[in-house]
Amino acid sequence: MKKSIKFIGLLALMLALAVSAVGCGGSDKEPAKDAAAKPKLIAAADATFAPFEFTDTSTGKYIGFDVELIQAICDEIGYEMEFRSMGFDGLIAALQANQIDAVVSAMTITEKRKAEVDFSDPYYKSGLIVAVQAKNNEIKGFDDLKGKKIAVQSGTTGALQAEKITDKNKITYFTSSDQALMELKNGAVDAVVNDYPVSAYFIQQGNKEVKLVGEILSAEEYGIAVPKGKTETVEKLNAGLKAIKENGKYAEIYKKWFGEEPK
Ligand code: ARG
Repeated sequence: MKKSIKFIGLLALMLALAVSAVGCGGSDKEPAKDAAAKPKLIAAADATFAPFEFTDTSTGKYIGFDVELIQAICDEIGYEMEFRSMGFDGLIAALQANQIDAVVSAMTITEKRKAEVDFSDPYYKSGLIVAVQAKNNEIKGFDDLKGKKIAVQSGTTGALQAEKITDKNKITYFTSSDQALMELKNGAVDAVVNDYPVSAYFIQQGNKEVKLVGEILSAEEYGIAVPKGKTETVEKLNAGLKAIKENGKYAEIYKKWFGEEPK
């Protein structure tokens, strides 16, 4: 009798050990669970704005300066990054509805936008430029645009600038600046007012029927926009931006897309 009690006791002990071994297996998986719980940042842009954000037609992936910039920042601060594309006009509303965490879309920091969203430190110095057909010798800059047919991307600082110069009924609004530039290339409008690096890139890509004229207008700076009040996100993004400026990653990405040292 005693013997069998001992035997049952041994069996129970073995069972307990087996169960705890399974338990150990479970806890072994803990680190993997932690890695999966890496915080995620959903970034969005209107990905029709080369060389800042556009689609690589061979892979279908989003590429460009902004895409690599936010990826490098997220790597730095330990975030996973997801990149989405949506119309430029809808980006701020998407932030306000918390559908996305950040806008990285060559978005100029303006007073009006600062009332609606918060911005990171500036990450790129830009400005507006006039593009005309290469054969046009009449328009030499912003001063010659009055009464002319202008194409712009709606919701942009280029559109606002065009509205300052000429009547709204002379302006054609497009959802992408590419479309505006194609309209100019085809001769349907006299000029496009758009961000300098984007119009310059368009010409560089072989669109020799278009040229840039006059001076680059005023300094604009791009910032990463986040929902208003998300101070912690802004601080993280600023820390990441500072780190990649210091460790050379920012300069590397800048040179890759603009072929020169950061300004
Ligand atoms: N910098 C201009 C603005 O903020 C144009 C930006 C357009 N960006 C884009 N991805 N389409 O208004």
